[in-house]
Amino acid sequence: MFKLLLCCLVVSGAYAINHGTQAADFEAYMKKFGKVYTPAEKNNAQFYYNYHKNLIAQQNALADRKASSYRVNENQFSDIRLITFAARLPEARYPTTSFNVTPITPIEVAPPEFDILSQWGIELVAQDQGTVCSSSWAYAVARSIQILNAIQVGNFTPLNNSAQALIDCAGMGNGCTTQVPQIAFDYLTQNGALLLNEADYPATNTDSQQGMCKPQMPPSAIKVDSYGTIPDGNDALLMRYVASEVPVIVEYNPATFGFMHYSSGVYVPPVRAQASSSQFLVVVGYGHDTESDLDYWLCLNSFGDTWGEKGFIRIVRSSTQPIAKRAIFPNSLGTIATTPSTPTTTTRATPITP
Ligand SMILES: *[C@@H]1O[C@H](CO)[C@@H](O)[C@H](O)[C@H]1NC(C)=O
Repeated sequence: MFKLLLCCLVVSGAYAINHGTQAADFEAYMKKFGKVYTPAEKNNAQFYYNYHKNLIAQQNALADRKASSYRVNENQFSDIRLITFAARLPEARYPTTSFNVTPITPIEVAPPEFDILSQWGIELVAQDQGTVCSSSWAYAVARSIQILNAIQVGNFTPLNNSAQALIDCAGMGNGCTTQVPQIAFDYLTQNGALLLNEADYPATNTDSQQGMCKPQMPPSAIKVDSYGTIPDGNDALLMRYVASEVPVIVEYNPATFGFMHYSSGVYVPPVRAQASSSQFLVVVGYGHDTESDLDYWLCLNSFGDTWGEKGFIRIVRSSTQPIAKRAIFPNSLGTIATTPSTPTTTTRATPITP
């Protein structure tokens, strides 16, 4: 009897302590990620936060035992459930026509590993699309052009291009839902629009809908002449383009616990995801990870620089799970406008007919 009582006292004591720690952890989480809730929201948020904390511990225990090649951590999405996360990044919808041109010819033989950014020492801080607007299509386009432009003009601490200008001006009302990179490339190549700097057109990533397009006469901006595409599943061609220093955007399904909370290592997606969502990533390199003995693609995401490996994710490179999906890239850039009236910025490359 005495033993039984003691046991329960100990257990309930542990529960109280555990409960207190949990509450403190959640308060720290709220502070770290700037979360503000109504009391009702807070209950839910705390529930999912604790739920994810357990899953995170389980996944990292697997990684500790080398039974998994990647780790996870709490982040800005830990207070919502996976299906909410998936719903906020709805599956992309594509236009039926494309203005892609026959792209530049990539190098024939890609080296075993390559990293566009480290090749040139390009300094790039991953940007944050926020948690309520599915705008990776715009961020990926802005970033792919930024990288290509940095290489072409030899400025390796490039100004950030404005994703928000693309969301507002090219989004066609779907800027925060199902929009795709091609629409941004069409806007930039078919309408003669220039890609603005973030300084001239700042981000507003807490809005869940695209804003009104604010036309600008930019003091400096980038002209995009044409874009190219890669057939689905053709990872070998994708590799040749990346090795040719072309950052390539791919559509990826982020609707898994592992992607949602990814923090490091080589991410291996489950064979079947629970939902179909769309996140656009910029493939900037590839290589081999000696720790896990896995080949990977190095991809830039737009979940900020505290998500993943400083905002990047290494995704397993394998013939059974090809990454080339709706792959698209800036093919050639025009002259940079130094003043709004520079006429050379409106010249366009003649599309080559295949
Ligand atoms: C570009 O954006 C990143 C991430 O938001 C930021 O840290 C960096 O300071 C920006 N760079 C410039 C030149 O404004």
